[in-house]
Amino acid sequence: MAVVTISGNERGMENVDEIREFLAGHGIWYRRFDDVDRLGDDATEQQILAAFDEPIGKLKAEGGYTTADVIDVSPQTPNLQAMLDKFSKEHWHDEDEVRFIVRGRGIFHIHPRNDDAVFRIQVEAGDMINVPRGTLHWFDLCDESRIRCIRLFQDPAGWLPHYTDSGEDARHEPLCFGPRYIPTSS
Ligand SMILES: [Fe+2]
Repeated sequence: MAVVTISGNERGMENVDEIREFLAGHGIWYRRFDDVDRLGDDATEQQILAAFDEPIGKLKAEGGYTTADVIDVSPQTPNLQAMLDKFSKEHWHDEDEVRFIVRGRGIFHIHPRNDDAVFRIQVEAGDMINVPRGTLHWFDLCDESRIRCIRLFQDPAGWLPHYTDSGEDARHEPLCFGPRYIPTSS
């Protein structure tokens, strides 16, 4: 389950409906799949895409996405730090960034263009979100440096990041909540 936190507000949202409503206000949709565990840890890219053929097909029809692939990042990934550095600086894209996490965890920071506070979406296996084209954002992995996710593209060339060099990313600590994180009720 994703956790959404707004800067300056210690309470994390973990209620699916609350998260959906909040994100929808920023043009982001969030969907949850509870059956990703049926995939083995060593599932191939083809097996992962085949397992979720139906929702991927639906999404392609809905959003004009033409291709899907699977990205696999782990501590063994060659040039891992260089790759993470590309994700973790504030940027935007000419197309939607749709991600369906099947393993691992990470944090999207979203910087609304209307000057609302920066907020973070911590995602884990089973979470699917889109970051709409033009949205200012950046992404970090959690401590275990592991993520495996399906990516959907309207045009793979559109994924190229446009960096803002605003320095905003440096003002937000990319700390993940642990698996036993329990939100406060206050
Ligand atoms: Fe991005």
